[in-house]
Amino acid sequence: MTDKFIYNEDWASIYEKFSILRGKRDEAAETAAFLERYASGGSALELGIGDGRVAVPLSERGVRVEGVDNSDSMLKLLARRTDLVKFWKADIANFRSEQRYNLVYCVWNTFTFVVTREAQIACLRSAVEALDDGGTMVIDVGVPPLDGLVSGQQTSTLLVDHENTILNAAVHDPLTQTFVSTLLWFSGTQVRRLPHRVRYVYHQELDTMAECAGLELAERWGDWTRG
Ligand SMILES: C[S@@+](CC[C@H](N)C(=O)[O-])C[C@H]1O[C@@H](n2cnc3c(N)ncnc32)[C@H](O)[C@@H]1O
Repeated sequence: MTDKFIYNEDWASIYEKFSILRGKRDEAAETAAFLERYASGGSALELGIGDGRVAVPLSERGVRVEGVDNSDSMLKLLARRTDLVKFWKADIANFRSEQRYNLVYCVWNTFTFVVTREAQIACLRSAVEALDDGGTMVIDVGVPPLDGLVSGQQTSTLLVDHENTILNAAVHDPLTQTFVSTLLWFSGTQVRRLPHRVRYVYHQELDTMAECAGLELAERWGDWTRG
């Protein structure tokens, strides 16, 4: 049986609008400017590339960007948007690349869509194999949102405007560090349900997993402008 909570194809239909409403399209130029420095004018691989929100502006800065994603619908959006970025379908928890890259990056919490500790370590190991000697990996994850939990549950309001109300209803499992959630998007008379599951990581655990995979912490920042 398919796990309905694994990040799935339904997201592609709302992805562009959702990322605009969440301010993520505006942020993409800053993200690309940050990443460009680590690609050193060479090459970069994005894990969970989506529709190229970040990959496209990064490639426009002269970096040769490639990407992997496991969603056909997302990759279709990417192909429609650009022919600058090469991509292939793969699970970021277990992929192989024939190329080596100056930079491998994984942004907007995409790392947490890999939902077990073992798979997250495997993802980091695959990334290390794809890196050139002296290459850099950049991971962008939020601090786990554990405030507001009541009896292991959390409902948060992501957005309210004159047309949309977007809520996230989540159940927490502290043993596996996972949230099983449904995003509820009310717009006019329509309601969309988007189930998903994430495994959150604190930065200390991420550092330890990255060290196991052969990486060494170089820098840590709170935002794309090095705050
Ligand atoms: C939150 S979106 C981010 C997309 C893009 N990185 C961005 O910043 O706009 C997460 C993306 O990761 C992909 N994804 C989720 N789990 C994945 C997995 N295990 N392997 C490959 N791609 C995955 C989804 O299909 C989706 O395109």
